[in-house]
Formats: sequence, structure tokens, C-alpha cells
Amino acid sequence: MHKLKIISLVVLIALSILIGFSAKLLGLLPEQLVEWYHFIGSFHPLLLHLPIGCTLLLLTWEIIGFVYKPYQSKSLEIPLIFNALTSLMAMFLGLVLYQTGDWQGDLIESHLIGGCVFTIMAIWLPYIYICISNKLIYRISLFISVITLTLAAHKGGEITHGDPLDKAPWKKQAKETTNPNIYSDIVVPILESKCYSCHAAEKQKNGLRLDSIAMMLKGDDLGAVIVPYKTDESRLTLTIEHLPIDDDYHMPPENKPQVTPSELELLKWWINLGAPEEQYLNDTEIPSELQIILESYMGSEALEKEPQVKNLTQLRQEKEELQKRKQVLDEKINIIFEKYPKSVEYIDINNLNLYFTAASFKSKFTDNSLNELVPIANYIKELDLNGSKVSEGLSNFIPKAKNVEIVQLANTPINNENLKPLAEINSLRILNIHSTQITDESIELLTQLSNLEKLYLWNTKISAQGIKKIQEKLPKCLIIGGSKEA
Ligand code: HEC
Repeated sequence: MHKLKIISLVVLIALSILIGFSAKLLGLLPEQLVEWYHFIGSFHPLLLHLPIGCTLLLLTWEIIGFVYKPYQSKSLEIPLIFNALTSLMAMFLGLVLYQTGDWQGDLIESHLIGGCVFTIMAIWLPYIYICISNKLIYRISLFISVITLTLAAHKGGEITHGDPLDKAPWKKQAKETTNPNIYSDIVVPILESKCYSCHAAEKQKNGLRLDSIAMMLKGDDLGAVIVPYKTDESRLTLTIEHLPIDDDYHMPPENKPQVTPSELELLKWWINLGAPEEQYLNDTEIPSELQIILESYMGSEALEKEPQVKNLTQLRQEKEELQKRKQVLDEKINIIFEKYPKSVEYIDINNLNLYFTAASFKSKFTDNSLNELVPIANYIKELDLNGSKVSEGLSNFIPKAKNVEIVQLANTPINNENLKPLAEINSLRILNIHSTQITDESIELLTQLSNLEKLYLWNTKISAQGIKKIQEKLPKCLIIGGSKEA
């Protein structure tokens, strides 16, 4: 009886494979459902990890049981059936993905065959384990299963991330050279990271491959995508540069990692050099504006990290200027540190935005202390004065802190009058005045803070009607807390 159930399960599974295959081969799946294939198929990379884990668990189980008898399990039925079912599901989703036609080439074919053989093995395993109960055949089959798994998984990995062995440290070291080849050491890595996923051996969108110069010259239906010495005729760079990002022909497509301006400059430079295969950096005259790009590029720093560069001399100047301004600001901060150590931090070095906190000084931080911050006031983006003793000093300080976005004044002795200068601060996004003596008198002021996103009001004297009024005037602002007496 038991065996009968298993056998029928196996037959069912075998049938579904057959159906899946014939559907694929005969093209029975209707084309209108392509979006659904993409959606359903996208779960393939997720699901396939289940049988991988399970098969390796079964292998571990055998090895440990072999060495240490008490661990030999008497019942592997559940994991074996789980393995068979999840393999089957993963294979089915893989076939759906295959059906989309996005995936073509030799790699895909070998991954497909590997995956199917593995699935058949995964179904065969519970069958022999339960029905034939022959340990030796089971172990041999498990071994074969692990081998096919390794091969199929390797091919699958290659499809999505390229051959992992190419990234091996010993291979990389061999590649490093003091005189880089412009094509293979500069151009190829850019195309590899941004284009090969759709335009190389495994996948050939538009029938186009970009993984060799010959392929680029062969191009697609419209012919070559590079025209040596002519960037204005080379579709390789035109599709990157001259089409709006949401255009179908903009490359890479909208939702993919884009080519950075520096990378584009390098690609164009290479085409302008005649798209040579064997030209080396040290033997080539390098235009000054490319020098800085190449420096950072060859310094193995990822190009993506670069800011959007249009004019490099300008960028350089801006950086130098920023450096100078930062030096001046650092001196001012150092003076403040003498009295209030560690009270200031950079939030954003590129824009010299500061965070100030009086947290370590609390009631020792007074209106006079606030006055000492005046030299850095317009750099402060976040001002934390919670628990300090500031009040009247705000009327002098706040107008100078024009760029502040977050102001924390909770637990301070402030009154309605002291808040008034905030009306001038358009950048204010977050205001915290909880546990203060602020009353309904400040409502009008608060409603003027049109960019406010968050307002902390609990434990103040503002009435429930007052809060309602503020909320009406500032519908997008999140108001936290309210008065107790309301
Ligand atoms: C996510 C996949 C994908 C990536 C990545 C990608 N492409 Fe494409 N590419 C396509 C598709 C799809 C088409 C066909 C466009 C169409 O027919 O709507 C195409 C077409 C092209 C064409 C032909 C356009 C024409 O004028 O007919 C060129 C040239 C091209 N790609 C270059 C590139 C370059 C260069 C990169 C890398 C910077 C790149 N592609 C990255 C998917 C991709």
C-alpha cells in the first residue's frame, strides 16, 4: 500500500515533467502571458536554493552516518520527498523563465539540461530509498545527484554573475599590469559590468554582442555599433549619451545600473583612438581631462562612486575650494571644542553640514553658550538643544542658522516669544518643543512653518483645538503628542 502511494507519486511527477517539457518544445504556452512568465519565473533563483540545501544536507547525513553509525538515520523519507518536490518546482519555474526567450545561448542550454537531470535524480532518490531500500544504489544515486547539482548550479551562477573562477585572486593578480591595455583593461570592464548581462555570449538582446571588437563591428540588424574614430556615428555610445533614460533604446535600460559620465568619456576616448585592440596606456597621449578619470580608475577605485562629472577642471577647482572652506570651518570648530568637546560633527563633508548637540552639557549650556556657536551657525543642519538652558538667546542665534533643518528644544525654559525667530527659517523640517511652556499663543507661528514634517508637542500648554488648527494648516506635518488638559 505504502509503496503504491510512492510509485503513484513518482508517476505523477514524471508526468508533470513530460507535460512541462512538451509544452516548452511545442510552444504551447501562449505569448500573451509573457509578463506572467517573467513574474513567475523570477522566483526560480529563490526556489532553487531549497533543493540545493536539501541535497547537501542529505549528503552530510550520509557522510556523518558513515563515520559514526548512531547517526545513520532510519527515516530520510521526508527530506527526500521535500527535495523532489522543491526540485520539481524550481525546474518548472526555470522552464517558465526559459519560455520568456530572454535567455539564450549555450550556457542556458547546459544549465537547462543539468537542472532537468538533477530533478530526475531528485525524484529517483526517494523511489529507491523507499521502494527498493538498497543503501548502495541510494548512495551512488545521491553522489550522482550532487555532481549534477554542482554542474547545474555552476552554469546557473555563470549565467547570472559570470564565472566565479574568473574572480579568483590568483587570476586577478596575473592580470594586473603596469602598462594597461586600453581595450581589455579599461573598456572591457565597463562593458562587462554594464552591458554584458544582455549583450554577450549568454544573452544577446537585439542579437547584439559586445564582448569582442569583432562582434561590435558586426553589430546587429542595423550593422556595426562602433565606427572607429567616430563617436557621433557609434551607437555604442550614442544609445548611452543621446537618448533620454526612459527611451526604449537608451542603454542600459532604465532600471539597470547606468554608465557613469566618466565611463562614457573613457568609451568615447577609445572609439576616438580608432577602437584599437592592442594599444597600451603608457604609449598613448592622454588628454588632461581624462587624466583624473584614469587616475581614479586605474587606482582600482570603482568608477560608480564618482560624482556626476561634466567638466573636470571645474570639479577640481570646486574640490580645492571646498577644502579651503573646510579648513576655515575646522578652525572655528576647534575653538568651540575647547569648551564643548565633541559637540559638533559633520553630517555631510561635501556640503559642510554640521550637527550640534548640547547633550553632554545640558543645563550648563546657556544663552551665552549659544552665542559662542554663532561663527558656525549657518553650517548647522541639525541643532540639538534638548535639556539645555537656552531661551532668549535664540532670538540672536536662530536668524543666523539659516540652513537648519532640525531643531530640538525639548525640556528647555523657552517661551512663546523665544520661538518667534523660527518663522524666518524656511528649511525647518523637524521641530521638537515637548515639555516646554509653549502655549496656544505660538499656534500662528507654528502654522507658518510650511515645510514642517514633524512636530513634537507633548507635554506643552497647547490645547487640543490648537493642535487641530495646526494640523489643518499643515496637513502633511506629523504632530506627535498633545496637551494633557485638553
Ligand atoms: C537589461 C538588458 C540590457 C542591458 C544591460 C543593455 N542592453 Fe542594449 N539592448 C537591450 C535591448 C532589449 C535592446 C533592444 C531594444 C529594443 O529593441 O527596444 C538593446 C539594444 C541595444 C542597441 C541597439 C540599439 C539600436 O539602435 O538599435 C545597442 C547599440 C545597445 N543595446 C548597446 C548597449 C550598451 C552599450 C549597453 C551597456 C552600456 C547595453 N546595451 C546594455 C538590452 C540591454
